[in-house]
Amino acid sequence: MRRTVVAALDEAAADIGRVDARVLACHLLGVDRAWLAANPMHVLTESQDARLDLLVAQRVLGHPVAYLVGSREFYGRDFAVDPAVLIPRPETETLVEAALERLAPGQAALDLGTGSGAIAVSLACERPGAAVTAVDASAAALSLARANAGRLGAPVEFAEGHWYGPVAGRRFDLVVANPPYVAAGDRHLAEGDLRFEPAAALTDGSVDGLGAIREIVAGAPGHLKSGGWLLIEHGYDQAGACRDLLAAAGFVELLARADLAGIPRVAGGRRP
Ligand SMILES: C[S@@+](CC[C@H](N)C(=O)[O-])C[C@H]1O[C@@H](n2cnc3c(N)ncnc32)[C@H](O)[C@@H]1O
Repeated sequence: MRRTVVAALDEAAADIGRVDARVLACHLLGVDRAWLAANPMHVLTESQDARLDLLVAQRVLGHPVAYLVGSREFYGRDFAVDPAVLIPRPETETLVEAALERLAPGQAALDLGTGSGAIAVSLACERPGAAVTAVDASAAALSLARANAGRLGAPVEFAEGHWYGPVAGRRFDLVVANPPYVAAGDRHLAEGDLRFEPAAALTDGSVDGLGAIREIVAGAPGHLKSGGWLLIEHGYDQAGACRDLLAAAGFVELLARADLAGIPRVAGGRRP
């Protein structure tokens, strides 16, 4: 017998909790939460019924909700996501805020390791007139980032390659990066959503997780204009190491910013 919305939701909620059950049902039916609440006796079609069961089964196995519904909200916009890209995190909005405070229209910004394009597209949308370039080593990630930029009307220049490789010889007013910073072997890599995200987005394989950050800091003076800013997202316990790297590379006006949970999250500095 085909189920009503309320019966299907109750069953799903028993396996994956009410919040995820509602999100998956809304995605499947193409409705919002208000519609679900207002139509509890709506009867699912056979195909909807079966597809909901499949989504719930995948969620039970741990597949991230964002991959199951194909999108995640970031800085007020919906970004398409798939297993080729990191799911944008709320803490990365702290990096975007710090970047927007330092990016004027007409200036040039570089986003290293753009993934879904969340940071680059947010900067381009929030600061019309800024020239935003985004680099990633993953062709699959870039293809999704390009699609996100196109759908959201963000004029971002994308390039494939290793960190500064594709922008050799160019200088920017601002360089931002949310690089892989989880230490190789960190137990979190085997937990939760991280099990399903691209390994290269999470860890560079270094024992302290700082390999990519070291490379990005070292290359920054050669790709920043005088007075330009470098801003990097880092792990909860990497603020001191990032500050030391920035100071050793000659950066001044060193900045440290915590995310909304109060965890140190962004390190930055200015090229003299
Ligand atoms: C932590 S994810 C960040 C994604 C996105 N910027 C965000 O904040 O949601 C790191 C990204 O860096 C990219 N990446 C890893 N190593 C790279 C390298 N050597 N050069 C360029 N990009 C790299 C990965 O493909 C991944 O998309």
